[in-house]
Amino acid sequence: MAGTKITAILRVDPQQPEAAVIARAAAVLRAGGLVAFPTETVYGLGANALDSAAVQGIFAAKERPAYDPLIVHLGQVAELLQVAATCPPVAETLAARFWPGSLTLVLPKHARVPAVVTAGGETVAVRVPQHPVALALIRAAGVPVAAPSANRFGRLSPTCAADVLAELDGRVDLILDAGPTPVGVESTVLSLVTEPPTILRPGGVSREALIEVLGPVALLEQPVTAEQIAPAPGTLAQHYAPRARLVLYQGERRAVLATMREDALALQAQGVRVGLWLADEDLPEVAALDVFTVAAGPAADLEQVARQLFATLRQLDEAGVAVILARDLGAQGIGLAIRDRLTRAAGGHVIQVA
Ligand code: TXA
Ligand code: MG
Repeated sequence: MAGTKITAILRVDPQQPEAAVIARAAAVLRAGGLVAFPTETVYGLGANALDSAAVQGIFAAKERPAYDPLIVHLGQVAELLQVAATCPPVAETLAARFWPGSLTLVLPKHARVPAVVTAGGETVAVRVPQHPVALALIRAAGVPVAAPSANRFGRLSPTCAADVLAELDGRVDLILDAGPTPVGVESTVLSLVTEPPTILRPGGVSREALIEVLGPVALLEQPVTAEQIAPAPGTLAQHYAPRARLVLYQGERRAVLATMREDALALQAQGVRVGLWLADEDLPEVAALDVFTVAAGPAADLEQVARQLFATLRQLDEAGVAVILARDLGAQGIGLAIRDRLTRAAGGHVIQVA
């Protein structure tokens, strides 16, 4: 799809969104247009979820395959039964605890939701986002808003308006610019049509927090090699990918850093441009190397690492490196989502250092 639209960008206050700006964006949604807007996780590319033609526009703008379903965003918890056919008690409990917030629930779909939204499936993914701009926009539009992340298919999710513009200029009607998104990785997608509930995609709400409320929670095992890529919702292995090839290193910190140093030097010796993605405190360990390095944040503050994740990977791409060597920072809390995104970016290329 060529960029045929004229993309307007409007600044909006992230805490107290200006009513006039929100009204203009809501009118675009109601008219069947596409609006990119901030959520607390990443920027979303929104359309009226009840308007099939508008939702088709999302797939076209993103060049997203039709088999990958969209998340429906609501302005109120009370609207859940407008898009889900049933609301089991567990959904009510989760909604009360985590909404508005970074948790997406997969439930049986209401007949009203067009097939294009759910990729023809019988379930619908729903969440009430927490960002004041997202909430104001959805409420003003008065319709549920289908919104994937506002990037082209298979690329890094956007965490600021400039990222959206770089991916979708000429393909969306309006971008609401409220600055960087506070969580930085996408929502946790939790299926409630399995027993026990299954995390299809780790994200902003941690597995630990879900277990506290639900007891046992399953975690979908991601396919790890490119050959195993399954065209099923939420399971694309190679997703969230930077342009560079990424290799993820797991294991004890000192041993991992030693292996990464060796591998970086070996690649450089072959003329390959290498970049390193490391925790802040790792930087002195590679200071002697002449290798482009980004500081991902302190390993002890994975919330900060998550917030900067996509921006730091973009930095490596912009530096023109061909290979990114990244150190795994653990799976505690939001660390599971960070590991998931890095593993997918690596297309399963994960090295265990003994
Ligand atoms: O934080 C987020 O979730 C962001 C913001 C904009 O809300 N949205 C987002 O959407 O990340 P998207 O489309 O990039 O990712 C949605 C994921 C996909 O992996 C999709 O396959 C899965 O949710 N999904 C959507 N509907 C589903 C369904 N009915 N069953 C299983 N997985 C579903
Ligand atoms: Mg996405």
